[in-house]
Amino acid sequence: MSRLVTLSVGAVAALAIAGCEPGAKVSTQTGFRGAGLNQINDVSNIKAAVAIPAEAYPLPPDGGPTAGQTYQNVQVLRNVSTERFNHLMAQMNLWVVPANAPAEQAGCNYCHNPANMASDEKYTKVVARRMLQMTQNINSRWSSHVKQTGVTCYTCHRGNAVPAAVWARADNTSADPDTIRGNKRGQNTPDPNVGYASLPSDVFGPYFAGQAADEIRVASARALPSPDHAVSIKTAEASYGLMMHLSSALGVNCTYCHNSQSFRAWNLSTAQRATAYYGIRMVRDTNQSYIESLTSVFPAYRKGPHGDPYKVNCTTCHQGVSKPLGGVSMIAQAPALRGPGGAPAPAEAGPNAGAAVPAAFNQPGTLTGRNEPAPIPGRQ
Ligand code: HEC
Ligand code: HEC
Ligand code: HEC
Ligand code: HEC
Repeated sequence: MSRLVTLSVGAVAALAIAGCEPGAKVSTQTGFRGAGLNQINDVSNIKAAVAIPAEAYPLPPDGGPTAGQTYQNVQVLRNVSTERFNHLMAQMNLWVVPANAPAEQAGCNYCHNPANMASDEKYTKVVARRMLQMTQNINSRWSSHVKQTGVTCYTCHRGNAVPAAVWARADNTSADPDTIRGNKRGQNTPDPNVGYASLPSDVFGPYFAGQAADEIRVASARALPSPDHAVSIKTAEASYGLMMHLSSALGVNCTYCHNSQSFRAWNLSTAQRATAYYGIRMVRDTNQSYIESLTSVFPAYRKGPHGDPYKVNCTTCHQGVSKPLGGVSMIAQAPALRGPGGAPAPAEAGPNAGAAVPAAFNQPGTLTGRNEPAPIPGRQ
């Protein structure tokens, strides 16, 4: 009897030690051979491909009078043919305010006064015009991230007037910022954004609000402490909180982007980390240049506790998969959303210049400004 108990306790302990999640797994290689850069997924956690709504009607051929000639108050889509303009309006209907939405959020009238389609009296139309420019900006200037796959309104909205995953500045739990009593500094508040870990739970404000964002890089180039590298543990914790968001937004673990031998070294990381690097800059640009500028347009009930509008993070598009919508491109349904083109967005000036990312795979010093040799074991 006691042997049986020992045995079963042993079996349970072995399962616990193995961190066991029963069920089938699939393993996909994401990095260099032999480096152990594999993404392991529990088959039951893999999301089913999302159902993409059928087109309202087939895209009409280009040509004929433009929307700017036909209508009175077209500012962004002026040069799009009238036929294609009408098609895009029908698509926007399906993507943002479809027929199955609550009655007050369905159809052309969510943005338009049916008696005067040219009028901008509804705030939703003013927002939608800015969203058109924002989508064009993402597709034309951030192909470093969205490649030729591109995005449409559906990538974020998925048939909702307000996308399911958005963020605004978190409500501060401490009333008096000058006291340490009762001020949790955003910690010990279980929050799904940081995987319920005891990490600062407001990870978006510091990193995703605009170009003047906090520095994500926290690791030192040296083994021992040095005065030229003074980064607080609190800063490092915030950075890790952000990494928890990146992982959960994409439904991956850390080694999808990093080699755990060194989280810092770019030449040991996977190509996905470079894509993510541009993604971070794209999110900042989107929030700062397009959504913040709508602050005075949104009614109070559409804003967060601090009065800022709801903004974009990695989950807004990705929703738990490494390529939004399983990598399916919908841009052929709305070629006007490709935008006018133009120079790719400069990610950043200075030693962290985004253009340097691909080069960094061979020479990480181009990114860090410190010319360290790689791989890591050769480092002093
Ligand atoms: C999500 C908001 C939204 C929805 C839904 C929407 N529209 Fe629009 N509509 C706009 C915006 C924004 C413009 C202006 C585009 C621009 O400035 O380039 C516009 C412009 C128009 C115009 C040009 C009016 C003029 O004279 O200036 C027409 C016509 C139009 N829409 C028809 C429709 C129809 C028909 C539907 C329903 C099938 C529809 N729209 C649904 C946002 C919307
Ligand atoms: C990158 C993600 C993203 C894309 C792409 C996107 N939107 Fe949005 N949209 C948002 C976010 C975030 C908000 C919420 C802002 C808020 O509520 O404060 C929003 C809000 C809106 C609203 C206001 C809804 C309301 O009820 O207040 C409209 C209308 C809208 N978007 C239309 C569009 C249209 C049309 C397109 C495509 C041309 C589009 N959006 C593409 C992220 C996106
Ligand atoms: C989707 C890709 C991706 C995932 C997943 C990811 N990271 Fe990162 N990580 C990045 C990128 C990109 C940077 C650099 C950000 C920058 O420079 O702006 C970074 C930076 C870091 C840094 C700072 C390195 C330095 O130079 O100081 C650490 C530490 C880190 N990540 C840890 C983690 C951990 C731990 C996880 C898992 C919880 C994780 N990362 C998941 C992409 C990722
Ligand atoms: C506006 C929508 C949008 C947002 C927001 C967004 N992404 Fe993406 N991301 C995409 C699209 C579209 C692709 C697919 C590109 C392709 O087909 O290769 C992609 C691809 C990626 C990939 C490459 C996946 C692979 O297997 O090659 C990574 C990594 C990634 N995104 C990370 C991020 C991170 C991290 C964030 C937040 C900082 C983010 N993305 C925010 C749209 C978005």
